[in-house]
Amino acid sequence: MTDPKLLVFAGSTRTASLNSKLAIAAADIARQSGASVTVADLADYPAAIYNGDDEDANGIPQSIRDLKKLMQQQDGFIVATPEYNGHIPPLLSNMFSWASRPEGDEKGKVAFDGKKAAIMAASPGGLGGIRVIPRLRDTLAELGVVVVPGFVTVPNAAAALDGDDLDEKLASSIKRLTDRLIAACQ
Ligand SMILES: Cc1cc2nc3c(=O)[nH]c(=O)nc-3n(C[C@H](O)[C@H](O)[C@H](O)COP(=O)(O)O)c2cc1C
Repeated sequence: MTDPKLLVFAGSTRTASLNSKLAIAAADIARQSGASVTVADLADYPAAIYNGDDEDANGIPQSIRDLKKLMQQQDGFIVATPEYNGHIPPLLSNMFSWASRPEGDEKGKVAFDGKKAAIMAASPGGLGGIRVIPRLRDTLAELGVVVVPGFVTVPNAAAALDGDDLDEKLASSIKRLTDRLIAACQ
């Protein structure tokens, strides 16, 4: 069995994003466990807010086509997302909307269907973004993604993700979840 291919991305493009830090930490851990890991920064795949008229006039943005191609090459995803008012942030929601559109002979959701995923959230708050977890799980399931059981949330993330070394307990939670994802991909 070849090493599972994982795409890791965060639901934030903020320069000092806590979720990007979490995503990169998870990518390092998954790599150490034998996965072949690509980290994508969604800032490299910009897209206007989805609008059907825009799609009719201009089609799917090239950036989203590129991202879909990258996603199709993967066995699974690791997603670390902020929680905005208890929900998925618009960046992720918009990317999911565009990337799930059919085009030509290609069905919608091809970039998602049958992929596996592990989900995480980080927040400077005390709940760690836990309310976004079931929402992200449901959204990914709707797209055809099999989300592995469990999740990682990082409360007080500004402190927890400060510095180069992760707290041992957090590192082992991430490893447990990413190992589950790797096993599901195999
Ligand atoms: C519009 C908005 C809504 C937010 N709602 C929540 C929330 O419901 N729960 C939470 O823990 N943090 C919330 N936050 C704070 C974010 O968790 C915080 O900005 C976080 O740093 C964003 O993730 P990032 O660091 O990866 O960019 C909200 C922030 C914004 C801008």
